[in-house]
Amino acid sequence: MRIAHISDIHLFCGHCIRHESILNKRLIGLANWYLRRRRKMDFRILNLLSEKMKEIKPDVLCITGDIVHLGFRDEFQRARKWLEELRSICPVKIVPGNHDAYLPECIPLLKITFGDFFSIKEAEISSKAALEDIFPVVDFDEKSRVALIGLSTATPTGLIHATGCLGKGQIQRLGGVLKDLGQKGLFRVILIHHPPIHGCVSKRRSLIDLDELNKLVDKTGAEVFLFGHSHRRLVLPSNGNISKRIYLNAPSITSTSKDPLKRAGFFMIDIDRKDREWLVTCKDFILGENQRSFISGKGHFWSLSS
Ligand SMILES: [Fe+2]
Repeated sequence: MRIAHISDIHLFCGHCIRHESILNKRLIGLANWYLRRRRKMDFRILNLLSEKMKEIKPDVLCITGDIVHLGFRDEFQRARKWLEELRSICPVKIVPGNHDAYLPECIPLLKITFGDFFSIKEAEISSKAALEDIFPVVDFDEKSRVALIGLSTATPTGLIHATGCLGKGQIQRLGGVLKDLGQKGLFRVILIHHPPIHGCVSKRRSLIDLDELNKLVDKTGAEVFLFGHSHRRLVLPSNGNISKRIYLNAPSITSTSKDPLKRAGFFMIDIDRKDREWLVTCKDFILGENQRSFISGKGHFWSLSS
């Protein structure tokens, strides 16, 4: 199975400001956008990404959250249009990030706009259920025996915070899901917005119940974590025969940073089974300095016993 992984699009549209209230947390987000982010992001990179997806033909493109920036209605509509265009190239699976749930009033809009990309049921989209009560959501590919497990850490936070939370119920249900998929001998890929390891982000941007998640996954097992939020690429461990799991942190797909660790890119992950082993390769594609194409960076290879 071939998975492409991107994260943190932060789709923003300035004209939305006229129609919706900004006398809330959005005021800080807007200041941040115009003072800092605007010069470091370019949405034209998304066109390059579409071209690249046509070329590498992934079985699924996974997006680990922060699709929109400040949760304006127009941002959601624009994002939906872009996702539909992408879906005409390859299947797309997403999980929500903190920016997608920027304010409490964004949640119903988030569910209606992205519900089918989350693979959540029609009844859950229209219900008042919180995201943490709907996730985890599992997609399973019979042929490759790879399961994608989507989690939600998206929760509206205070003014200067960007923390995430899974909640006791979601962690408990995840335990059952991982155990069940593990007993069936499936390869388990977890999609989550906030980094599931310490040290990637500051405390005010971290996952509140990270230790509970780790304790659980140490018990049940899981093969790969795909995540975003830090806007910095990270591959752990870098290569080898491993007994634990692989951690892939994608940078922001719209970043024009000069720093290669923060510049836009995506991972192309191939998962194959041979005898009693899972063979996993990951190619790290990075936006070229001329910003006209993605170039293939470092390759990584792991084998895991099944
Ligand atoms: Fe984020």
